[in-house]
Amino acid sequence: MPAARASRAGAGQEPPPAPPRTILYTGKGGVGKTSVAAATARACAAGGARTLIISTDPAHSLADSLQLPVADVPTRVDGSLWAVQVEAHAELARHWAGVQGWLGELLVDRGIDRITAEELTVPPGMDELFSLLALQEHHASGAWDVIIVDCAPTGETLRLLSFPEAARWWLERVFPFERTILAAAAPLARTVLDIPLPGGEVFTDMRRVSANLIAMHEILRDSERTTLRLVMNPDRMVIGEAMRTFTYLNLYGYVTDAVVVNRVFPEGVGAYFERWRGVQEEQLQLVSSAFAPVPILRVPYFEQEVLGTTMLGRVGDALFEEGQDPAAVLHREITQQIIADGDGALLRIPIPFTRKEEIGLKQVGLELVVTAAGQRRTIMLPPKLAALSPTAARYEDGILEITFRRASE
Ligand SMILES: Nc1ncnc2c1ncn2[C@@H]1O[C@H](COP(=O)(O)OP(=O)(O)OP(=O)(O)O)[C@@H](O)[C@H]1O
Ligand SMILES: [Mg+2]
Repeated sequence: MPAARASRAGAGQEPPPAPPRTILYTGKGGVGKTSVAAATARACAAGGARTLIISTDPAHSLADSLQLPVADVPTRVDGSLWAVQVEAHAELARHWAGVQGWLGELLVDRGIDRITAEELTVPPGMDELFSLLALQEHHASGAWDVIIVDCAPTGETLRLLSFPEAARWWLERVFPFERTILAAAAPLARTVLDIPLPGGEVFTDMRRVSANLIAMHEILRDSERTTLRLVMNPDRMVIGEAMRTFTYLNLYGYVTDAVVVNRVFPEGVGAYFERWRGVQEEQLQLVSSAFAPVPILRVPYFEQEVLGTTMLGRVGDALFEEGQDPAAVLHREITQQIIADGDGALLRIPIPFTRKEEIGLKQVGLELVVTAAGQRRTIMLPPKLAALSPTAARYEDGILEITFRRASE
């Protein structure tokens, strides 16, 4: 593994190393996350950056993509490119063994068979979350200029990271008083609830996870250096899911600096696929309307799988222009801001170059379509907002502000 810059300079003398540029690729299953992430990492390393690609997906395919074995510790791929496949089981054991032990016994005690009880001790998405937490260590090591993360195919994981306030509350209000709480609650738990109280190891796990969640949230919110990229194919359902994830990322304040449309049919695909190409063109318009002004990168549907150096190089060439820094932050702002406002909410979207009279709004289910002087924005509303209706709109300095209230108000 490359040496950390600070330790080379002598501990304690230099300021801590700048955090690495971090790009997380996410998207629905099978759309090409691993291919695009690996291609980006290769391109970054080719420019000399000390680059680590981390796969947090329990079903690893990074080694297949790179056509090299990849361990659960950073493994050198080539030059300054390194890779690591996080072992979900090991992470789970490291973070959650205490809770699992206690909760498992509790459930077995209640007559649930052991295998089911063990399953129940890990809430859905939790194992993926622990894998993602492995990013932190590498992020803090000082050994990397760029970290690329190939995430599991779900936005849910990121959703779990959006509650740092809850984690902070536990850290500040509950954990410092662990002993007092245990002493006070023990008789109550035993007589009224008839459950054994958790031991110290449960508190240790919870404390560590809470601290990790907060640190992870800080990394993701550092939009100067950390951005997310949504990978999709030009298919309606895949785009729909990416739009939902985009809405959540905007809500949490995580910057999406590019979207990648992979498997776009190139010209000259022949009569059979020509109609498909037409359908894809329509879907690409939806992509523009849903994600603008975030840059859209296109990768063609190649005539073979993306495996190994040459094919990853072709993906890299499609993603980045010649001379462009593949680690550059391509977009810096949160695209749609949703601000809670009493019982209602305020949605802020940049719509440059228009006049208020030209703006049209239409809500269909969860989708809000904004039209303005030839521009079209399709916004997937978070379910909470969909229960409300747009009641007022204001346009100033290129920003459209829409107020949502309950229909009856
Ligand atoms: N542009 C492309 N042209 C041709 N084949 C592609 C392209 N992009 C990806 N593939 C192939 O499609 C398959 C899925 O790609 P990949 O593994 O990158 O997707 P993924 O989103 O990481 O999938 P998973 O959700 O299973 O992790 C692989 O076999 C890959 O080689
Ligand atoms: Mg993958």
